[in-house]
Amino acid sequence: MRINKFLAESGVASRRGADKLIEEGVVKINGKVCDLGTEVNLGDNVTVHGKPVNTVKKYDYYIMNKPKGYVCTVKDDKGRKTVMDLLPPKTERLFPVGRLDYDTEGLLLFTNDGDLAFKLTHPKNEVTKTYLVKTEKPITEDELNKLRAGVYIDGVKTKKCKIRLIETTKNYSKVHITISEGKNRQVRKMFESVKHSVDFLKRIKIGDLTLTGLDRGAVRKLTPVEVDYLLNL
Ligand code: URA
Repeated sequence: MRINKFLAESGVASRRGADKLIEEGVVKINGKVCDLGTEVNLGDNVTVHGKPVNTVKKYDYYIMNKPKGYVCTVKDDKGRKTVMDLLPPKTERLFPVGRLDYDTEGLLLFTNDGDLAFKLTHPKNEVTKTYLVKTEKPITEDELNKLRAGVYIDGVKTKKCKIRLIETTKNYSKVHITISEGKNRQVRKMFESVKHSVDFLKRIKIGDLTLTGLDRGAVRKLTPVEVDYLLNL
């Protein structure tokens, strides 16, 4: 088995996170620093930062209603609060699945199942994510249609997406937008491309999984039915 898959299945990091650790040179097999292509064989001794890695086959899955003001990394070099601070104690091996910006709130998953994390975040799988957006001024149907058809952000056209107008007043609009990609700050940049800035952004769904009943800042384990749903997406 390739070393990155081994680390992901062992709950050390996501597949991409594992690649980073390998590139940093902190992963050793039988005492030798490995590279991205190295295979792990039965009986090999794998260490990360000098600590042995044991294969865990039992995975954990948590859902959080992330508040704004938290970064989505395991550690922040600027010393800001991270989403890891909101997890219950003894869950230090979990990692967040994908990212929400510092100022974005809402549905965030945590797991030590690297394969599921990879599946949910890889664009080719087109897992949908739905956001509630509040704009700083009312948005027109014409602007919404532009967003639905795809707009250029960082020189690349976004895929078609679904948008439902929830409310419009003379001061703002609220919409639900469902996208199947996950470019950096995608929703904010999409709205910026039609000259709107986003006043409030919250992820309310991943696929059909919702935040129902989870207060801001709260975390709970996914139910077996929810886990099964994600594994079969
Ligand atoms: N799009 C954004 O702009 N920010 C997020 O956090 C998620 C999606």
